Amino acid sequence: MKRLEGKVTVITGASSGLGAATARRFAAEGAVLVLGDIREDAGAALAEELGGCFLPCDVTREADVAALVDGAIKDHGRLDCMINNAGQLGALGRVEDISAKAWRDTMAILVDSVFYGMKHAARVMRPQGEGVILSTSSVAGLVALGPHAYTAAKHAVIGLTRSVAAELAADGIRVNAVAPGSVPSNMTDFAYGDAAAMRKVAEARNPLRRMIGPEEIAGAFAYLASDETFNLTGQVIALDAGLVECRLDASYYAREPSYFDAYGNRG
Ligand SMILES: NC(=O)c1ccc[n+]([C@@H]2O[C@H](COP(=O)([O-])OP(=O)(O)OC[C@H]3O[C@@H](n4cnc5c(N)ncnc54)[C@H](O)[C@@H]3O)[C@@H](O)[C@H]2O)c1
Repeated sequence: MKRLEGKVTVITGASSGLGAATARRFAAEGAVLVLGDIREDAGAALAEELGGCFLPCDVTREADVAALVDGAIKDHGRLDCMINNAGQLGALGRVEDISAKAWRDTMAILVDSVFYGMKHAARVMRPQGEGVILSTSSVAGLVALGPHAYTAAKHAVIGLTRSVAAELAADGIRVNAVAPGSVPSNMTDFAYGDAAAMRKVAEARNPLRRMIGPEEIAGAFAYLASDETFNLTGQVIALDAGLVECRLDASYYAREPSYFDAYGNRG
């Protein structure tokens, strides 16, 4: 029995990058896929390859997200897992240079989309009495590690995850998020140049000295969607090669062992 056998899963932003890797992983684990994206050709081709279905979906439009969820219900009668993943880097620049429109557009892609996904997934999952809602945040959702609007938006994704998890727990619905560090994709090629340039940065900057691959994020989503995490909700899993939690240089710990007692005397 595969881990996600028969689990009806909607993935937004499924045409490339983390979304496409997640679609492949879920298909390999037996999930039934309903994919959505604004890039129709690539999304439809992937759905055909994986035996799922594709619907054009602009996640900034509530009606599109609702239609994606309704598509899963129409074809399969239920929704087991909703993955709010579509995104873009959004507004760049110094805080005083960011236009109100660029700010609002970034929030629409990165925050409104997740709200719509949670809202419409909850609409169909609550009567089922079960379901899993997952979203792609970022290490920029945990600390200041990106453009202003992106960082604010990814923090908001974590806030929504915790808040909606608290509400839906009584209905048997789990709500969690993944916070990836930098992973090669169309989005990050724009920021870093290409995967080779990103690998250099990752190997120098990440405490584990490794670059993170899209398949690792896909693996985390599969774990969170599976029954192995039956009691895990309101959580954020950072897949960041130690970037956020292991910032102190290892040499700090390599000094001569000693201790300070209750009075501050060194022993
Ligand atoms: N790559 C990274 O390093 C990284 C790190 C942390 C978080 N993320 C997040 O992962 C998610 C996926 O990004 P990625 O790195 O795979 O980039 P990507 O550009 O490869 O994929 C993004 C996907 O979202 C789709 N998309 C963009 N705007 C959309 C819209 N309005 N409606 C529907 N689909 C839309 C794109 O067509 C594309 O298929 C994003 O939320 C991003 O913020 C990425």
